[in-house]
Amino acid sequence: MFQLTEEQDQIVSLARDFAREEILPGAQERDKTHSYPAEIIAQLGDMGFMGMLVPEKWGGTGLDTVTYAFSLAEISYADASVGVILSVNNSLCCYPLVAFGNPDQKDRYLPDLASGRKLGCYALTEPHCGSDAAALRTRATRNADGSWRLNGSKVWITNAPQADVAIAYTTRDPALRYKGICAFVLESGMPGFRVGKVEDKLGINGSGTAELIFEDLDVPAANLLGEEGKGFNIAMATLDGGRIGIASQALGIAQRAFDLAVSYAGERTAFGKPIGAQQGLQWMIADMAVRIESARLLIYNAAALRDAGKNDSRACSMAKLAASEAANFCADKALQIHGGYGYSKEYEVERLFRDARITTIYEGTSEIQRLVIARSFLS
Ligand code: CAA
Repeated sequence: MFQLTEEQDQIVSLARDFAREEILPGAQERDKTHSYPAEIIAQLGDMGFMGMLVPEKWGGTGLDTVTYAFSLAEISYADASVGVILSVNNSLCCYPLVAFGNPDQKDRYLPDLASGRKLGCYALTEPHCGSDAAALRTRATRNADGSWRLNGSKVWITNAPQADVAIAYTTRDPALRYKGICAFVLESGMPGFRVGKVEDKLGINGSGTAELIFEDLDVPAANLLGEEGKGFNIAMATLDGGRIGIASQALGIAQRAFDLAVSYAGERTAFGKPIGAQQGLQWMIADMAVRIESARLLIYNAAALRDAGKNDSRACSMAKLAASEAANFCADKALQIHGGYGYSKEYEVERLFRDARITTIYEGTSEIQRLVIARSFLS
């Protein structure tokens, strides 16, 4: 097993304590009422967890990816909705600004995003294309004065209902495929930019997911992120880190499901002994533990490689694939161990079962992770 440094462990412990004391108690209620955890996000902002990957110069905490990943897992252990809100703000909005933004863009956007005063989202997916991201059709055309006009729409955008800033991907010409893609930094008040349908989802009900609509949205040239036509590379490099974030969210769900299952298996009796004494359950517990440990090690590997300056898409996809599949496996087995109680909304495992389901879909399905992994060996 790897060892966190003392400094890493201190931050992760801070996240764990806050998650268990302040986030966990209200998680069931927020799920039931589909309530956005505004107060918790503000507190996490004050504690520095909204800008974990942002250098201190721009108001962030400048943590390494390993600390980020395991802090996020602790927060997701308590509530996966809070986990994904954080993951998207940190990995998908702040990170591309840090990595590809110019000094002016960093000064303008990062301090508010890193402190939690503003929230970010990432707008790539469109109604007709999710996995084939290079097929996007939202058009960006140049105006005579050098600014850009955007027209199109995005769907399934996490944080969209509450977001103040969006990193949006558009194309100069769909026929160019990935070579036509341009990334922009958008602000919620811009004329022609609005939130469309808000989704009613199976899980992660404390986080908002919505459509974003761009109608003759004029964007200053200063808001182009990175180079014209290089937006796809920005989107992909950003998703590598995002996949570590979602892997961490999934690890948190898996660990919570495991802990609840172990505890219930020790309390509940059948045939005159605790159900945990039955071999059938022991095998489930063992299989859950192995999947969780594998996911944890793969997350550590992907995060540590990134910290060493060796970003490795294969490692990020392996972590995301293993952790998201583990979350679904563990939530399913935890529910099975709880029997009829597990199927009731009164028990947390029912929420975990629903929350886990999205982790094999967003930020690249399990099939896309397999494609990235396989291609890395074949090409
Ligand atoms: N980093 C940087 N550049 C990358 C890259 C990476 N990880 N992966 C690919 N690229 C570059 C390639 O090098 C190539 O550029 P050059 O020619 O300049 O070298 C270019 O991108 C095209 O690469 P491919 O030919 O591999 O592209 P492709 O069309 O075959 O697509 C894919 C590859 C992996 C399938 C990609 O489309 C993909 O990841 N699809 C899934 C999209 C996804 O994850 N969507 C999730 C939406 S976001 C979300 O869920 C957010 C939310 O709200 C939670």
